[in-house]
Amino acid sequence: MAPDPSGTPRAATVLVASNRGPVSYTLGDDGELTSRRGGGGLVSGLSAIGSGADTLWVCSALGEGDREAVRRGVGEPGVLMLAIDEETHTAAYNGIANSVLWFIHHLLYQTPLEPVFDDGFRRRWEAYERYNASFARALADRAATGAAVLVQDYHLALVPGLLRQLRPDLRIGHFSHTPWAPVDYFRLLPDDIAAQLLRGLLGADRTCFLTRRWADAFGECAVRILGPDALAGTRIGVHGLGADAAFLKERAHRPDVAERMAALREQIGPDRKTIVRVDRTELSKNIVRGLLAYRQLLRTRPEWRERVVHLAFAYPSRQDLAVYRDYTAEVARLAGEVNDEFGTDGWTPVVLHVRDDFARSLAAYRLADVALVNPIRDGMNLVAKEIPVVSDAGCALVLSREAGAHEELGEYAITVNPYDVTGTADALHTALTMPEAERTRRTGELARAATALPPSRWFLDQLEALRA
Ligand code: G6P
Repeated sequence: MAPDPSGTPRAATVLVASNRGPVSYTLGDDGELTSRRGGGGLVSGLSAIGSGADTLWVCSALGEGDREAVRRGVGEPGVLMLAIDEETHTAAYNGIANSVLWFIHHLLYQTPLEPVFDDGFRRRWEAYERYNASFARALADRAATGAAVLVQDYHLALVPGLLRQLRPDLRIGHFSHTPWAPVDYFRLLPDDIAAQLLRGLLGADRTCFLTRRWADAFGECAVRILGPDALAGTRIGVHGLGADAAFLKERAHRPDVAERMAALREQIGPDRKTIVRVDRTELSKNIVRGLLAYRQLLRTRPEWRERVVHLAFAYPSRQDLAVYRDYTAEVARLAGEVNDEFGTDGWTPVVLHVRDDFARSLAAYRLADVALVNPIRDGMNLVAKEIPVVSDAGCALVLSREAGAHEELGEYAITVNPYDVTGTADALHTALTMPEAERTRRTGELARAATALPPSRWFLDQLEALRA
């Protein structure tokens, strides 16, 4: 067994595997490595196991900093970073996970021209297999007899099946944080690949999803593609990750957030309502149609001119892919166009921020009168759950029916079809004019539903179910 960075061999009883790990490293010009701990549900969920437990988080080195950390043997106890060769990782991560699997589950292809599954695709698929095999081997080497292994997401869809072959004694769970494609769309994939992906996940004892809808879609794919007995050896679970209220409320009241609120108030101007969105600039987030809807609101209901500001925070994501860079540029272009059409000396209709700043996101959450969450499709969408928890004066939530969060929050939100720009503009108007008492009542209900399953409980539930 290989030693961990602290030098001691270990046999973990609880293991987590994900492409992106809880910590990342950057390499400074002076050769210094700086580490940064990431946020997110999985990180806070995992901390629920406590430090006494023998846990290991296996992840991939992503950038140059991470690779250098692995080379130097720098690391955190409880984290094993795999330095999978860069070409393999790039082909698996960008070429398959982000360009194929993400597109399939979020219905993102422009089908007259794509996808095209040719020889190049097959080579990238082999890289995806190698990358998954590296994870399976690392987990097999490190897991104690009968250990629980929780594998995360579409990057690692083959791991459960591979690990099952190496270590039949383990309890293996897989969690999909994305939606699952409807069967007709899933079958865009070559038949052998579709079957291989399903068998990979069905190597787990439990295969889990964020909502019943995605779980059912998976079940239907399995039965239709692999046959009526496909689900015999695997339980399907649903665990709807919620917002971490205690963390958010405390974090949102620190001085750096107050500072950002003051700066934003300056940009908004006096006596104006705010429509807030905070996203990674993800093709599935539908930021462009959100801006089109806002433009339509200003065109068709001139009474809102000078009286509302759209705070749109669109943080860069997956910029290695040209289609993401183009989309990011389109968001900026359209925001500029709306400002050119309507802006005045004292009023900027769209305030767009593209530099990731968590304190500023929380500041916007607190100031929100309306939250706009209109994804084309989304596994859950935690922003929809976080804003009602944090907003100071209560906010109306305009929510896509295609977000997983809609299953829990839909009753108290204003529901939109994400493709319907006119409908979204109307929904923004309804949200902006919602009577105060109604808004307060709904915000209370949203916050309650949003925090029903906090990250720690979400994680422990899975662990208990896996061991049962
Ligand atoms: C979103 C999805 C997760 C996924 C992650 C990967 O947050 O909800 O399911 O794991 O993207 O993002 P990355 O930046 O690592 O490509």
